[in-house]
Amino acid sequence: MYNQVLINKRIKPFKRKIEVSSDKSLSIRCVLLASQAIGVSKISNLLISEDVINTLKVIKKLGVSYKQKGNNLEINGFGINGFNIKKKTIINAGNSGTLARLILGLLVKIDQKVKLVGDKSLSKRDFSRVTEPLKLFGANIKSRKNSLPIEIEGTDFLRPINYLEKRGSAQCKSAVMLAALNTPGTTIIKAKKSRNHTELLFKYLKIPIKVKSNKEFDLIEVKGLQQYNAFNYSIPGDISSSAFFIVLTVLSKNSEITIRKVNINETRIGIIKILKMMNCNIIFKNKRIYKDEPTADIFVKSSKMLKSINCPSKLNSSAIDELILCFLVAAKAKGISTFKDLGELNKKESPRLDITIKFLRMIGIKVVRKKDNIKIYGKPKLYLKGNYHVKNFLKDHRIFMFSCIAALTLNGRWIIEDKDSINTSFPKFLKILKTIGAKINC
Ligand code: S3P
Repeated sequence: MYNQVLINKRIKPFKRKIEVSSDKSLSIRCVLLASQAIGVSKISNLLISEDVINTLKVIKKLGVSYKQKGNNLEINGFGINGFNIKKKTIINAGNSGTLARLILGLLVKIDQKVKLVGDKSLSKRDFSRVTEPLKLFGANIKSRKNSLPIEIEGTDFLRPINYLEKRGSAQCKSAVMLAALNTPGTTIIKAKKSRNHTELLFKYLKIPIKVKSNKEFDLIEVKGLQQYNAFNYSIPGDISSSAFFIVLTVLSKNSEITIRKVNINETRIGIIKILKMMNCNIIFKNKRIYKDEPTADIFVKSSKMLKSINCPSKLNSSAIDELILCFLVAAKAKGISTFKDLGELNKKESPRLDITIKFLRMIGIKVVRKKDNIKIYGKPKLYLKGNYHVKNFLKDHRIFMFSCIAALTLNGRWIIEDKDSINTSFPKFLKILKTIGAKINC
């Protein structure tokens, strides 16, 4: 049938406990790091979504074998640079920026040419942000207009680099760290703060790494060519997937939700800090530490009086995939909210800043934009009556799910295209929504 959903009823009050899908960043990183370990790594609770399936297909093409049973995985690694690559290998990262950028880091030493391709959305994204530092290591990289397809051929004459990462991009930082793993000597990265899963995994795997932090930057030193052993890892829930349910609850009447066992790494919980500043009721319960990563059950209650926010841009990177949801909350808050330095949002699976501004204006919210800064004029009594059709967003999974949350909390009659986009990160999204009472025709 059609690849769309129809929503024409707000969700009724709910009180539920749910589990969301496993974390995408950790799933991709664990698979890639297991592919370079010595021996059989066991990963449980792996996210089974297109981005992770593409990661598995890529390591298989590069000669690494694995066994999969549901969301349990065993990967047989042959150590750093243990790939076994045939001539004229083409790897396809699909929609995944994380996979595409991180895998390039692991290919700086390979002795064959590999071509990296991706889907329409990924092929529009900038890759100079990773190819520039990787070329400094000595890798041979060719691309057309700094985007995919990219051809990479490694070299035996790699040299460690000193690199300044100033975008706050964990993908760039991690690509450089993975290249450092293959390079003799010590690579030094000064990186604007961003999610630090790669650093924590290196530490857990006893890969020689030193991290010193100040308020804005981390100074990371990685000593290369140090083999490490296979490992076991159980992936926790994804805060980025949880965010849709957190905001659904915040914007619904008389509702409560508990989301079990979610990763609450400090570098990922910008959305919680922003929503608390906007007067939302959110509590972490049952906090635990698992292999240096904190997890908790997230308890959320409906919010009666949402306050506008002057959002500090230092929170942007820790809420990078959730900022669009914060804009939706700002649309229902009392007063004018400001968000600044949002340029990176237009570098995602779709130009998310442009698309969300268009979306908010479509539902009658005044948004004033000056370069990469926006002001959102909140309307606490916003209830919609019209017909709304959400389309042409490059099948961006987060724009699809964001639109569903808007439709389920604001009324109106909605058609939202590209339902299948959820398979990228959160295939169970619609199913879980239905279990808590959402009426969705698809
Ligand atoms: C990710 C980092 C972020 C984020 C993406 C996942 C990662 O991208 O938007 O969804 O796993 O490293 P940038 O690092 O480019 O900001």
